[in-house]
Amino acid sequence: MKRISFIGSGVMGTALATAACKGIDPNEVVVVDIVEEKARELAEKLNCNYVKTNPEAVELSKYIVFCVKPQFLKDVLEEIAPTLQKCIREGQEKIMVSIVAGVESQTYREILGIGDRQIPIIRMLPNVACLVGKGFTLIMEDDSYTEEQLEELKYILRESGGFDTLPPSQFVAGTVLTSTSPAFIAMFANSLADAGVVNGLLRHQARRYALEGILSTVQYLLERDLHFEELKDNVCSPSGPAMIGVKKLEEMGFRSSVINAVVEAYKRFDEIGKIK
Ligand SMILES: NC(=O)c1ccc[n+]([C@@H]2O[C@H](COP(=O)([O-])OP(=O)(O)OC[C@H]3O[C@@H](n4cnc5c(N)ncnc54)[C@H](OP(=O)(O)O)[C@@H]3O)[C@@H](O)[C@H]2O)c1
Repeated sequence: MKRISFIGSGVMGTALATAACKGIDPNEVVVVDIVEEKARELAEKLNCNYVKTNPEAVELSKYIVFCVKPQFLKDVLEEIAPTLQKCIREGQEKIMVSIVAGVESQTYREILGIGDRQIPIIRMLPNVACLVGKGFTLIMEDDSYTEEQLEELKYILRESGGFDTLPPSQFVAGTVLTSTSPAFIAMFANSLADAGVVNGLLRHQARRYALEGILSTVQYLLERDLHFEELKDNVCSPSGPAMIGVKKLEEMGFRSSVINAVVEAYKRFDEIGKIK
């Protein structure tokens, strides 16, 4: 049996399969996509296996990672259900891994026709930086899987970046921060760059310096474990340019804008996974 299959060879399927092929022998990795050509090209690039259908991917592997958009998940689950049930009857170990935002384990169980304890389901949400091996994946605690199964999955995907585990009550709050913040940070970086251009920099210089400012700040904060306000106070000298900028941001509602964006994203998260 192979170790892991990725159903869907789009953005996240490609990112995670790439990480898996760096972490373990690519011959242990299987990809599949509704567009066969896409999976074949990915498999050639990664030197891993591809199959033509989703049930084949289920049959072949221990871990099955669902990497399709929420609106296509029901079709995939209905298609693989008979194969999965047959594998379970034969006593094969199968572990479902969901990266599909918002879809609950119970939905998987209902559509797959499997009982509560019959099969482990690991819900996790990687973020986009997995594409470059610098991602961060949150995993939802659940007693359907064992510590060993989780550790093996993390081992296989370790080249995608870091991991943390959260109880169900905090999972959405955590994933909203890790998965929506790249959009907000990209907007912030672009705004910094625009301001640099207004002040006379060339676009490519402004882009680079905006990103370097963000990157170096994040590295410094992580390394020193500083309180965010302490760093802000250290940078803001009396009547200095940084303090004048902070005053302007406060006047324009910077903090409340960011807080409201995250709170609204949290509300939306609950809605998007509802399978019709
Ligand atoms: N992108 C992110 O940053 C991110 C982060 C965390 C989690 N996620 C989750 O990851 C999942 C995938 O997102 P994505 O951005 O990777 O989407 P994507 O780029 O659209 O990839 C999905 C792939 O699955 C294929 N597909 C559709 N129906 C299929 C089927 N029945 N069988 C096999 N393959 C099928 C799609 O083919 P077509 O293109 O032909 O439809 C596409 O190649 C989503 O559920 C999302 O919630 C995404």
